[in-house]
Amino acid sequence: MIPRADANGPPAQPAAPASDLPVLAAVDTPAAPGDEALWIDVIHKMDAVYADLVSSQSALEERTERLQEAHDFIGSVLGAMTDVLVVCAAGLQVQQVNAAMLRLVGGDATDWIGGPVSALFDAGDRATVTALIEAVRRGRPVAPREVRLAGAEPGLGLVSIDCAPRQDANGRLAGFVIVGRPIGELQRAYRARDAANRKLQHTQQQLLVAEKMAALGRLVAGVAHELNNPISFVFGNMYALRRYGQALTTYLAALDGGTSEAERAELRRSLKIDRILADIGPLVDGTLEGAERVRDIVQDLRQFSASREEAPDRFDVVRLVVTAANWVAKTRRTPPDLRFDLPPVLEVVGRKGALHQIVVNLVQNAADAIGGRSDGRIVVAAHAAADRAIITVADNGPGIAAEIRDKIFEPFFTTKPVGSGTGLGLYLSYNLAAKLGGTLTADTPASGGACFRLTLPMDARDG
Ligand SMILES: Nc1ncnc2c1ncn2[C@@H]1O[C@H](COP(=O)(O)OP(=O)(O)OP(=O)(O)O)[C@@H](O)[C@H]1O
Ligand SMILES: [Mg+2]
Repeated sequence: MIPRADANGPPAQPAAPASDLPVLAAVDTPAAPGDEALWIDVIHKMDAVYADLVSSQSALEERTERLQEAHDFIGSVLGAMTDVLVVCAAGLQVQQVNAAMLRLVGGDATDWIGGPVSALFDAGDRATVTALIEAVRRGRPVAPREVRLAGAEPGLGLVSIDCAPRQDANGRLAGFVIVGRPIGELQRAYRARDAANRKLQHTQQQLLVAEKMAALGRLVAGVAHELNNPISFVFGNMYALRRYGQALTTYLAALDGGTSEAERAELRRSLKIDRILADIGPLVDGTLEGAERVRDIVQDLRQFSASREEAPDRFDVVRLVVTAANWVAKTRRTPPDLRFDLPPVLEVVGRKGALHQIVVNLVQNAADAIGGRSDGRIVVAAHAAADRAIITVADNGPGIAAEIRDKIFEPFFTTKPVGSGTGLGLYLSYNLAAKLGGTLTADTPASGGACFRLTLPMDARDG
């Protein structure tokens, strides 16, 4: 600091300069009184100039520091960006590129700065980039474009770019800022996801087919069992009728052959003609009944297999529920204790095949739930409530644990060992119930076990 002049005395001797700033050299010759005032004035002025210089220097230093901070901040932001960024002058020379861009196009910023902005892009897309910039220059609205970057690895260099004008402090066009979002990775991820989706759908289709085949298998086993009874019945009767026919033919031939009364009586007794005559009626009736049963089963089967295109039809829920439940019960190695709590008839108008499939699935699950338990029991009930038919299938198995209660209707959810269940039974049943205009819900009654409740409209044509 320059020594200050005291208002009442001569100026103090200036000390050695602290900096390179010019200072007035000390003079040791005595000064005239007029000269002294001049000196004081000069020293004051110099002091003021020096103070100004010092304060502008510190302001400059402060500003430089702030500038550096701002520069570092912008640098760190640009460096952290995952989108690519190019700043170019109005003449389209590159002024700035960020790290994300350099990672994709390679090289240092200095390799690109000063060069044409189009060089950053694939030769095939340069015209697109230039057209985009020119549109922005003319103030036209532009939409992002997908372009490839120069020399980027295959699958990595695709970016969706957008461009905005950059103005100087006077509001004049100073250049352009291009920002691009790399979409090569994104596209690859999308493609991988699509492929995984397609694979999943394919697998689900296969599982659905497998489930349908398993259902068909169960159905065929049930039908075979069901048909076996009446057919063996018909066979047995037909063999008996053939024997009866032979006996009657022999007897009639004896009658025609002029045999004696005694011989005829003996023949009648030995051929059991009277028993045959009494038996023929019931035998034919029984055979007819067996044949009718076969016809009914085939009809049931037809309706089941046609369930997809089946039109709503009037049918008896009770009869259908009993048939479906029995089919399942009879195919089990240990037939479950199956009980019914049903009205004599419960007619509804709906799709018989779909209902059959639901009941089969529910009874199948109930039979699985009670397993080989000696006291295992399944109760199938139905009743009408206003415009709905309610069908319940309850069992006294372990019930449905709280943590899986909201999952059991999901496709492929199963707690059964691999190969024993596909987890599609309830999912399909739930959707079939919805298609029938009804609902399917699961309950765990306080008394234990599980109870599935199916509601159906009394007349599906109303819905
Ligand atoms: N009556 C029931 N008691 C206890 N749990 C049941 C009952 N019914 C269904 N569940 C549970 O719901 C799960 C899903 O049943 P769903 O019928 O959808 O599939 P699944 O029986 O396992 O296989 P599938 O496709 O062969 O029917 C079962 O694995 C079981 O855990
Ligand atoms: Mg099941």
